Amino acid sequence: MMKRFEVEIEKIVAGGDGLARHEGRVVFVPGTVSGERHQVETVLEKKDFLRARSVALLESSEQRREAPCPYYGRCGGCSLMHLSPAAALETKRDILLESLSRQRISHDAVVATPFPETGYRTRIRLHFSRSGGELVMGFHGRASHEVHDIEHCLLASEPLNATWRAVRSWFHEDPTRARGLKSIELQESSHQPGRVIARFLVQSRHGILEFEKREPRELLEHAGLQGFIVEAERGGRRELRVGSPVVEHRLGELMLRQTAGSFFQANRFALDRLVQIVAPKSAVARWIDLYCGVGFFSLPFASAAGEVVGVESAPRSLSDARANAKAAGQQNAGNVRFIQQDAATFAESFSFNRDDIVVVDPPRGGLTRALRERLLASPIERLHYVSCDAPAFARDARALVESGFEIDALELVDLFPNTHHFETVATFIRRRGRRSLSGLDSLPPKGRY
Ligand SMILES: C[S@@+](CC[C@H](N)C(=O)[O-])C[C@H]1O[C@@H](n2cnc3c(N)ncnc32)[C@H](O)[C@@H]1O
Repeated sequence: MMKRFEVEIEKIVAGGDGLARHEGRVVFVPGTVSGERHQVETVLEKKDFLRARSVALLESSEQRREAPCPYYGRCGGCSLMHLSPAAALETKRDILLESLSRQRISHDAVVATPFPETGYRTRIRLHFSRSGGELVMGFHGRASHEVHDIEHCLLASEPLNATWRAVRSWFHEDPTRARGLKSIELQESSHQPGRVIARFLVQSRHGILEFEKREPRELLEHAGLQGFIVEAERGGRRELRVGSPVVEHRLGELMLRQTAGSFFQANRFALDRLVQIVAPKSAVARWIDLYCGVGFFSLPFASAAGEVVGVESAPRSLSDARANAKAAGQQNAGNVRFIQQDAATFAESFSFNRDDIVVVDPPRGGLTRALRERLLASPIERLHYVSCDAPAFARDARALVESGFEIDALELVDLFPNTHHFETVATFIRRRGRRSLSGLDSLPPKGRY
């Protein structure tokens, strides 16, 4: 049964919700600010926590602002837009430090100079659905798969939005064109605004054939897409390629290509900073980039390293990485090897050396146990960890610290202003001579709030 009660928000936690307490249980309330009082209504009740929505703001915080996006609150893309940019950044720092402290690690974090809070995204993923027979195209709602009709995303550039409007109008002209489509990912070049490629996901292989019949090539002309790929969520490797589904990104002196569907860092302003943080200060014998994507954290360092090894499981990203190495030329890429493999499987049989420098940039779940244990058992002494999930990072950091590493540098890079997401870039070095738990509380990690 829905209950109404008043709460005071203690803090904002990983995921972006405000945390409060009510009758011995934790209550999570989205769209709130630390210190505020709200009247809330439960939306989900579990044994040890509740989810609730605010029905009245009783006492507001000075950190609150009017969100600049008309979709805010319904669209699930942003979760901290009701905070001033400075307060949102401070909140993210608190989330990172709290994630570490829950793993009994106390360490301060440098916060990178903030990037513009809008127009930064080079990749947006929009979904297709039907409501009352009408085609709906937009983002998922907060913690739901309901699609909200979105015409414009403030986080994306104006040219990327213009492409989205044109794509939308092509489907609105004839909604049967969207039959069987699940989503579209639009990817813009970070240095050539308006050069956009796309990846459509359809439900099944059959959906690819169906979509092909609807003359999707028209989209190149109509929406100015460079090219696109259509592939099935399930059903193997078959894909449809139209035009040239490739964009380029400038990274210092390098030009990196990305095919639709390959991963590339999504904030156009943050690319150089990310590379600078992990850049080696002196010559390196071997640079090992696990989860390497198209070579973002490996190719910029090829001239400083005797050898570079990149490992990536996605075939498309891997082939981009190889093409990027080739395009980078002999002078700095002849020493580069890209291997298509699961990172843990690679590490299992790879013979690491003490002077190897390893970069890991895993998906949200962090390192697998197998990879973590393999790295811990290896003789490496320096590891850069690039993370997009603070709790997963903190879990892995604890294992590293328990096994004799210490955090040498920790930087929060806010790649995703207005959302609760951010990137953490840490450098771990192996403590010499001892393998104690110094720097760690001896207590086990805290499980719950
Ligand atoms: C967060 S992205 C980072 C990519 C790259 N470091 C960059 O900055 O562009 C993670 C990458 O890991 C790849 N990946 C996911 N699971 C993997 C696995 N088990 N083994 C190797 N690569 C994996 C993904 O395809 C993706 O390219």
